[in-house]
Amino acid sequence: MSHKVTLIPGDGIGPEVAAAARRAVDATGVRIDWEVAELNADLIVKAGVSLPPHVIESLERTHVGLKGPVTTPVGGGYTSVNVALRKRLDLFANVRPVRSMPGLGTRFDDVKIDMVIFRENTEDLYSGLEHEVVKDVVTSLKVITRVASINIAEYAFAYAEKAGRKKVVAIHKANIMKLSDGLFLRCCREVAARHPHIEYKELIVDNAAMQLVVRPETFDILLLPNLYGDIVSDLAAGLVGGLGMVPGANMGEKDAVFEAVHGSAPDIAGKGIANPTAMMLSSALMLFHLKEPEAAARLQHAVEKVYAGGKHTTPDVGGKAGTAEFTDAVIAAMS
Ligand code: NAI
Repeated sequence: MSHKVTLIPGDGIGPEVAAAARRAVDATGVRIDWEVAELNADLIVKAGVSLPPHVIESLERTHVGLKGPVTTPVGGGYTSVNVALRKRLDLFANVRPVRSMPGLGTRFDDVKIDMVIFRENTEDLYSGLEHEVVKDVVTSLKVITRVASINIAEYAFAYAEKAGRKKVVAIHKANIMKLSDGLFLRCCREVAARHPHIEYKELIVDNAAMQLVVRPETFDILLLPNLYGDIVSDLAAGLVGGLGMVPGANMGEKDAVFEAVHGSAPDIAGKGIANPTAMMLSSALMLFHLKEPEAAARLQHAVEKVYAGGKHTTPDVGGKAGTAEFTDAVIAAMS
């Protein structure tokens, strides 16, 4: 059986890392029927919208996307493609596993980091509801709803159960934002009560940021509203080597889009040195979602093996290899 997947290569280094990930996925032996949907800054400007219809139509057909970075055109008021995708397909959960990569040589090499971040993906300050009350006085609405908070909490706890994880920490600032973060916390507590064998704790976001740096190995599942989730996700990525190293998944009821979280890196585009790790690890998450867990594990272990060997890594992590050499090494490590 083959799986239908929409591949959005994107622009900048997107096509390079997408091609590398596609080669690695195909090398697992899982049959994928790739439906390529081009999306880049020029196309967006031409179409006049962040999400031209051909991209949505393809995703509505396949329900699964693998997406490279897309440059957001400057000026013209275009929303980011990612925000548009999340809203359009109701991809309410942003999931980011953050794990130490053996052999990478980060300053946190002596601790084993293995956490999964669940960030609510559709509301909070990302609703874009801003208003100039009078000149030089602006408000921005933070929207928190019971439905979205319960959804993300249920998703995180369900994952914890399935993956045999032990504890969930909800991260908030309810001491200041008593109504909005207060509602988020009440929803988390309600869901936690339905999962009594998973340990549940709460941390105020500023303290959580400090604890993440001081003892990252103590975190397991993190559950956050949108804005804190955005910031904490990048902080956590920094613990394991940066944005080029971590995968991401945007999950909805029906649809899922997997993507590297870094941008289109125009400074190195076309040079053949982009690091495809994040895109490959996102592909491994995709394989897992497609119920191909063995292939997913094989791809992830192959990437880890290449880092452990230390010979075929790209310049952003101190190596000398290009994208193609890294990809060849991953494919060789799978066989
Ligand atoms: P960026 O992530 O593209 O680049 C930041 C730095 O990291 C650059 O020095 C770049 O060379 C390096 N870098 C990033 N990914 C790398 C990789 N895989 N291998 C090696 N080096 C890598 O962030 P920046 O410059 O802020 O954004 C550039 C463009 O990307 C913007 O137009 C932005 O809108 C877009 N963007 C798109 C995203 C998406 O589609 N998911 C996410 C973030 C930004």
